[in-house]
Amino acid sequence: MRSLLFVPANDAKKLDKAMACGADALIVDLEDSIPAQGKANARTSAAAFISEAGKAAHRPRLLVRINGFATGLADADLDAVVPARPDAIMLPKAEGGADVVRTDAKLLAREAIAGLPDGSIRIVAIATETATALFLAGTYGGASARLEGLTWGAEDLSAELGAEANRDGEGRFLDPYRLARALCLAGAAAARVQAIDTVAVDFRNAAALRQESEEARRDGFTGKMAIHPAQVPIINEVFTPSAAAIAEARAVIAAFEANPERGTVGIDGVMYDRPHLERARQLLARATAVGVG
Ligand code: COA
Ligand code: MG
Repeated sequence: MRSLLFVPANDAKKLDKAMACGADALIVDLEDSIPAQGKANARTSAAAFISEAGKAAHRPRLLVRINGFATGLADADLDAVVPARPDAIMLPKAEGGADVVRTDAKLLAREAIAGLPDGSIRIVAIATETATALFLAGTYGGASARLEGLTWGAEDLSAELGAEANRDGEGRFLDPYRLARALCLAGAAAARVQAIDTVAVDFRNAAALRQESEEARRDGFTGKMAIHPAQVPIINEVFTPSAAAIAEARAVIAAFEANPERGTVGIDGVMYDRPHLERARQLLARATAVGVG
């Protein structure tokens, strides 16, 4: 998933518009974009939308962001949306692998009740929204085969830390959030799942979004969340492997195939070893997934 667009679950017009905006995934939101008194209606609307949208032949993946466990709302959220069969649940304010195990168990029971195959609904966790979560970012590995990605957030974390700001005057994340970002990246790599970059809230600033997306890709993120449809084409472009990157990956794989007995190869005066081979394979898999491989 290159682009994952948030859409408030109570906004039918935005849900419709989101289906056609080119995002690889939609995150139908029951959490922060829905006020407390609107939660029940939002659940109903999310379930109706997912059931209907799920029938489309060509469609984005459909995720639902539920409310965090501490709110006491998560069980009713899952009761409402699991029968509609979303592709994945996004778990906010996740505190490590234990919370993924807990989500897995809750999903398993509801899949059984709804007559869905065990494990059919995946999990993406937001891994850095509480101070505790930062210290647990390395515990996601092996928690559940459902886990497919980790992402991070700076808004809830800054509130929890009591910070006045999370970005500097130029819009760059300050140290505590750069740490959260790095912990998400390392936690995802350790758990062998996708690392997904956080949202850029300044949705009219296309140049800043492009720069932030390119920096994320450089560092190992393979997708980014969005809050506005205008952000989607930029994110898709940045996270689609370029022709040059594909050619380089093919050259690395070809060089290793031509020298199966070697652990390192040289191409145009540069050394490549096994980690480069693994990276090249991953890049080609991503290219194939979006039809440019
Ligand atoms: N998904 C689908 N459509 C969206 C959208 C979204 N996330 N955000 C905006 N649109 C639509 C608008 O409805 C509008 O449609 P129209 O041209 O048919 O009227 C069009 O895109 C242009 O929107 P714009 O006027 O530029 O923005 P806005 O003021 O209507 O909305 C936000 C701004 C931030 C409220 C809106 O982008 C939004 O709701 N984003 C998601 C928020 C969210 O889920 N946050 C939680 C995660 S951090
Ligand atoms: Mg939040």
